[in-house]
Amino acid sequence: MRRIKTFSATVLLITLFLIFFYSTLHLDTTYSHRPGPEDLQRQSSLQVRDGDVKTQSSKQESYTTPHPDFHNVSISDGLRQTISQNAAYWNRLLHSALRNLNGGGNPFRRDWSRCRETNQELLHTNVHDFTSYPLLFQDFLQGMNCRSPPVLINQPDKCISGEGEGADPTFLLLAIKSTPGNFERRQAVRETWGRDGLYQSAARVRTVFLLGSSPPDDPDLGPLLSFEAKHFGDLLQWDFHESLLNLTLKMNTFLQWTLKHCPHVSFVFSGDDDVFVNTPALIHYLLSLDSSRRSQLYVGHVINTANPLRDPKSKYYIPLSFYDSPYPAYAGGGGFLFSGALLQPLYSVSRVIPFFPIDDVYAGICFKAMGVSPEAHAGFQTFDVKEQDRENLCIHKDLILIHQRSPQQMKKLWRGIHSPLLTC
Ligand SMILES: *[C@@H]1O[C@H](CO)[C@@H](O)[C@H](O)[C@H]1NC(C)=O
Repeated sequence: MRRIKTFSATVLLITLFLIFFYSTLHLDTTYSHRPGPEDLQRQSSLQVRDGDVKTQSSKQESYTTPHPDFHNVSISDGLRQTISQNAAYWNRLLHSALRNLNGGGNPFRRDWSRCRETNQELLHTNVHDFTSYPLLFQDFLQGMNCRSPPVLINQPDKCISGEGEGADPTFLLLAIKSTPGNFERRQAVRETWGRDGLYQSAARVRTVFLLGSSPPDDPDLGPLLSFEAKHFGDLLQWDFHESLLNLTLKMNTFLQWTLKHCPHVSFVFSGDDDVFVNTPALIHYLLSLDSSRRSQLYVGHVINTANPLRDPKSKYYIPLSFYDSPYPAYAGGGGFLFSGALLQPLYSVSRVIPFFPIDDVYAGICFKAMGVSPEAHAGFQTFDVKEQDRENLCIHKDLILIHQRSPQQMKKLWRGIHSPLLTC
């Protein structure tokens, strides 16, 4: 009798011990898992797993509810490794944002009309040589937290309009960075590679031109633009001044627009209004992708080992006290492509990462944060083809993107590569 008792007590003890042991084991595995870049690649929606929330959560979490955009954002370790933590202002901003990932509110949720005013003193305190920055750069820093400009011209039905009824999914959205005065360039794009339409009887292409506003001293193009917008239905305009250093804002505003008005698009092309795109070749390439690559695409002319330019006279000058690190690999802003499936994660990480004055570098930083690397494609020639090949139609027939062409060259090239007489 006694033996049986001792035996069952031992069994009970062992069972209890095993249960305890297993539960610690289980906790251990969940608690120690941190998502690496590969994890992010597999999870297109950037969901953070339970375990990660626990490791990163502070006690505050039960008291403060983070902004929905902030929730579920996780940033690859790759970004932390590429952009080191040092004394430069942007580096500090980034790392402080990363530390606060699941804490506090969103620093960028400020009223558009007041987002600049508070910054002045802050900048002088934090950037010791702020006054030595070029004026435009100072201007950029003052407006760095301004993220939701008023809409001047919208096309809310862009992605549901067209010949087909309602369900006519957009395969490719061409988002072309333009400026109010570039009427002729836009028209050349409409008449050639940016024409809305159905390609290979399967792929619906739709085009929008992204515009800011002209500075107050410029002639008023407003009436012309509203005519153009009504006539062609392809202009988007926001109320911020056109400037090189406002292109990151333009891209970000476009992301917000797309998530709202064209969320199911399969692919997005972002490019300049003076590049030439071989749309049929582009569609052909996209249709040939297998399904795993379709949802993880970030492709273009990849710039792998760029460093910030430190000459104050350069168009892309970046002061050392502002940013101190090489750039992560990125696709040149003349024209690159990405999957529609990446729109939401891209926008989510952009809510955490402070604006950077160069738009394609900023895009590269955001993709890096998602664990997505840019893929090089030889068809993207953002630095142009060799001098002796400029008139060679056969070379152009196989390319996807060519740098800087005039409206006249665009039309000539388009006609040329479509000519039935062309044999390559
Ligand atoms: C960007 O746009 C804002 C809003 O119009 C403007 O105040 C600012 O000067 C622009 N920034 C640059 C760097 O031009």
